[in-house]
Amino acid sequence: MREIIQVLEEKREAARSGGGKARLESRHLRGILSARERIELLLDEGSFEEWDMFVEHRCADFGMEERRVPGDGVVTGHGTINGRSVFVFSQDFTVFGGSLSESHAWKICKVMDHAIKVGAPVIGLNDSGGARIQEGVASLAGYAEVFQRNVSASGVVPQISMIMGPCAGGAVYSPAMTDFIFMVKGSAYMYVTGPEVVKTVTREEVTHEDLGGAQTHSVRSGVCDRSFENDVEALLMLRRFMSFLPANNRKKAPFRATDDPPSRIEPSLDSLVPDHPNKPYDMRELIVKIADDSEFFELKPDYAKNLLIGLARIRGNPVGIVANQPLVLAGCLDIDSSIKAARFVRFCDSFNIPIITFVDVPGFMPGTVQEYGGIIRHGAKLLYAFAEATVPKITLITRKAYGGAYDVMSSKHLRGDINLAWPSAEIAVMGAKGAVEILHKKDAADPAKIEEHTEAYAHAFSNPLAAARRGFIDDIIMPRDTRARLCRALSMLREKSLENPWKKHGNIPL
Ligand code: HXC
Repeated sequence: MREIIQVLEEKREAARSGGGKARLESRHLRGILSARERIELLLDEGSFEEWDMFVEHRCADFGMEERRVPGDGVVTGHGTINGRSVFVFSQDFTVFGGSLSESHAWKICKVMDHAIKVGAPVIGLNDSGGARIQEGVASLAGYAEVFQRNVSASGVVPQISMIMGPCAGGAVYSPAMTDFIFMVKGSAYMYVTGPEVVKTVTREEVTHEDLGGAQTHSVRSGVCDRSFENDVEALLMLRRFMSFLPANNRKKAPFRATDDPPSRIEPSLDSLVPDHPNKPYDMRELIVKIADDSEFFELKPDYAKNLLIGLARIRGNPVGIVANQPLVLAGCLDIDSSIKAARFVRFCDSFNIPIITFVDVPGFMPGTVQEYGGIIRHGAKLLYAFAEATVPKITLITRKAYGGAYDVMSSKHLRGDINLAWPSAEIAVMGAKGAVEILHKKDAADPAKIEEHTEAYAHAFSNPLAAARRGFIDDIIMPRDTRARLCRALSMLREKSLENPWKKHGNIPL
């Protein structure tokens, strides 16, 4: 008995030291935490229960039988964040570069299986050189086992990937199938093939950072939902992010008490929309002013900036916010913003998070770049996502709601529950100028007549009344009352129940 305890203690010590002191220290010098330190920072103090510390790889090729590290390069288990259960795996780059062996994959699959069974989120802290080269197809099989579980867990429990080091090759596809990808600036990168392969195949010369760093994926590709300065900031922000999410698809998102009064009046909102219809304003100001304690956890803030998405709380309950941003491209919907919003709407709908949509949209972006890029099918993703969503949907039109974009942005016709407008709202097929150019082509040479027609059109449509007369807008409210009205609407909708017709799954235009 004493002997086995001693062996166990030695194994535990070996697992804790990972790839050795020297490797850990060199990473510390670069501000990088160890796999275990990351877990400790992420979870509530003392809550981590580690599993499979004694698991080792079974490879006997390339001298691997002499090189075994207990735990095999990934720390797995469960613990709590603010008292709520989560499952976690944290790859240890100091052990074979965090590469994924058959055993390493099996450990990850084990926590995923448990997460699905008990209905708790899975968080992956990724830091890995990809498939364990020495294991060949066994490690590829391990990846596929993880992928399958990512898909089975999708829409059942939230899955979050925090990329904290390399993530290369097919390995990127596990994070890609999780709900959110966060990255650490400077140390994380993701790509399907690295710079050397790129150079051989396309002759392009590109650095790791430019090809797949946090900046690239936050600004250009939209793969990354949020990037952070370093390990510590990333993990503390992840704790904050988790406070918005329910444990699984059968639970409501967690309530957090607030002193922010539900009836708080915000007079400054009365002057948010400028008098001139083409003058921009910052929609973020509206979001921050109506949210509890002005807290807005924005996602993809540097990608498709013509549309804002993120999580906030209203009267203590999490809500998803989707909003056109008139500051960028006049808030037009284009390919990137449609995809950005569609995926977020589907996340909220999967996990019972009500959606609040703020609308100021002059339409879909015209042009060959958009048409050749497939704006038809990408715009349809957003339309599909809003139309299929059954969670409470509240829409507020602050200014423009033109054309197809009016329909798409959670309109009454897509089962919007409460559709409100400010007095500054304009709901029409298009703006007055464009409409007059089409309807009164014959008067084009007569500026006086054109002005007269424009005024008449604006008088008829540059207000929310035409839509309100038909009941497409439930009420026209003063901007200052927005928070109070949203609070009431959300309480009224709290027990909303709506189901789509039975189907295996819909066929969203991918
Ligand atoms: C086994 C690996 C490894 C791997 C790194 N190591 N990647 N061991 N399998 N995939 C080991 C190294 O041999 C080294 O061991 C230690 O980890 C640290 O690696 P370094 O190269 O010294 O570190 P660094 O200079 O920081 O470079 C990191 C790296 C590089 C860029 C990630 O290691 C690298 O390019 N690795 C291979 C990446 C790759 O092509 N993976 C396969 C992708 S394909 P020692 O003992 O010397 O310290 C894939 C398929 C997935 O993943 C399929 C899913 C469908």
